[in-house]
Amino acid sequence: MKKFWDNSCGVDACGAGAPSASSGRAPARELPVTEPRSLKPVPASLTIGGVTISPATVLAPMAGVTDTVFRRFIRNLGGCGLIMTEFTSADGVLRKKDQKAKRYLHFYEDEHPISAQLFGSDPWVMAEAARMVEGLGFDLVDLNLGCPAKKVVKCNGGSGLLRDLPAIGKIFEAVRGAVKIPFTVKFRAGWNDEEIVCVELARMAESCGLAAVALHARTREMGYSGNARWEWIAAIKDAVKIPVIGNGDIRSPEDACAMVAQTGCDAVMIGRTAPSNPWIFRQIEQYCAALRDAGENLNGEGHDFSRAVNAEPALAAGGRFSVRNGAPSGAKALDFLAPSGMAEAMPFPSLPASTVAFRKRLYEEPTEGDRYQMIRTYFQMLIEEELPDAVGKMKQFASWFTHGVPGGAGLRKAIYESKSAPEILIRVEDFFERRLVIGAITL
Ligand SMILES: Cc1cc2nc3c(=O)[nH]c(=O)nc-3n(C[C@H](O)[C@H](O)[C@H](O)COP(=O)(O)O)c2cc1C
Repeated sequence: MKKFWDNSCGVDACGAGAPSASSGRAPARELPVTEPRSLKPVPASLTIGGVTISPATVLAPMAGVTDTVFRRFIRNLGGCGLIMTEFTSADGVLRKKDQKAKRYLHFYEDEHPISAQLFGSDPWVMAEAARMVEGLGFDLVDLNLGCPAKKVVKCNGGSGLLRDLPAIGKIFEAVRGAVKIPFTVKFRAGWNDEEIVCVELARMAESCGLAAVALHARTREMGYSGNARWEWIAAIKDAVKIPVIGNGDIRSPEDACAMVAQTGCDAVMIGRTAPSNPWIFRQIEQYCAALRDAGENLNGEGHDFSRAVNAEPALAAGGRFSVRNGAPSGAKALDFLAPSGMAEAMPFPSLPASTVAFRKRLYEEPTEGDRYQMIRTYFQMLIEEELPDAVGKMKQFASWFTHGVPGGAGLRKAIYESKSAPEILIRVEDFFERRLVIGAITL
């Protein structure tokens, strides 16, 4: 079955995987010296209608991925300020018997702050569903205007509404009037290049009292292809005073800081990178701390990193372009999620000896031992949660997480051949036990 994200997204699927070290701490990311990009640390926090998000990083809503287990897993690893549910049908929320919608909206105390994302086109239904979401204890409610899936668009939901701004206005008003928690919207830039509505939409959101906007900087027609057009995020930021969350193609801490520098956005939202590199949020935190230090040391202001970048090649992070090179078109986005080790996929230019001295550890890379702990923890959480599709999720995630583990192909095969969740866990334990015995990894 073709999924809505079965589309070229321009992400390199050929990540070679993890750090080369087979034991102990993996080598620090060696930052390339390419053309300096301006970099600005992701803000330490932002406030959305009274809810504090700290740091200003958001786990993007992803259907089939960001269930309660994955969300808590990301939260526990640290560095993620806000998590969001998968998009949930407002109609489904109101239908008493819709167990799926109820499951999507199930969350635990340690997930706060958390936002529930709804889709739908009927203002009354949306308002009632938002009321329920507020009653369930969510901190924020979000409207999805980005989903390109045909079955959602057909009912005028998701990105289908982007062609009908007055209809969006009615939903904005109905939901805003129904709840006290902050109401936000996540959208694409427009239906296609000829119908870019993002600035108008952001202004409308602001005037209707929404507390923040998030832009996935692509059109509906682009799907996941091409590059996210960050200039659209900058245009929205210029147009409104409410917080703007930038989204699209952040694959590294360097990308996150480049987006903030280029667009002035108040927070960054990360989607596809999170399942292949769940440490991304923590890495951003570490990288931003290093940038702030460098800024303070170099100019005392902590704002203009162009000097830091020019003075210190270690901060001259590049690579956004390089991940895109050679991206296979037509591959599935889920395949794109598979590889970790984006950094390893980047063709780093070789550095002159004088520059090597500048290399610094700016954020930690996971070791094989870290990956082992992560797979085990995540699988145990899935089993404990007793999700109906736990085995399928384990198989899906195994392919993302085990890239970079030496012998990972064998482990993936063993996992795919397993019939039950406990059997998968046993095979994972066996695999890493053997690696421990031969001293390949340390915990
Ligand atoms: C598997 C998958 C599921 C997604 N589901 C949703 C969703 O439920 N709601 C939504 O607003 N966006 C959804 N998206 C879009 C992401 O939230 C995000 O906007 C997009 O992936 C671009 O960000 P990225 O480049 O960081 O991945 C989904 C994307 C993927 C790959």
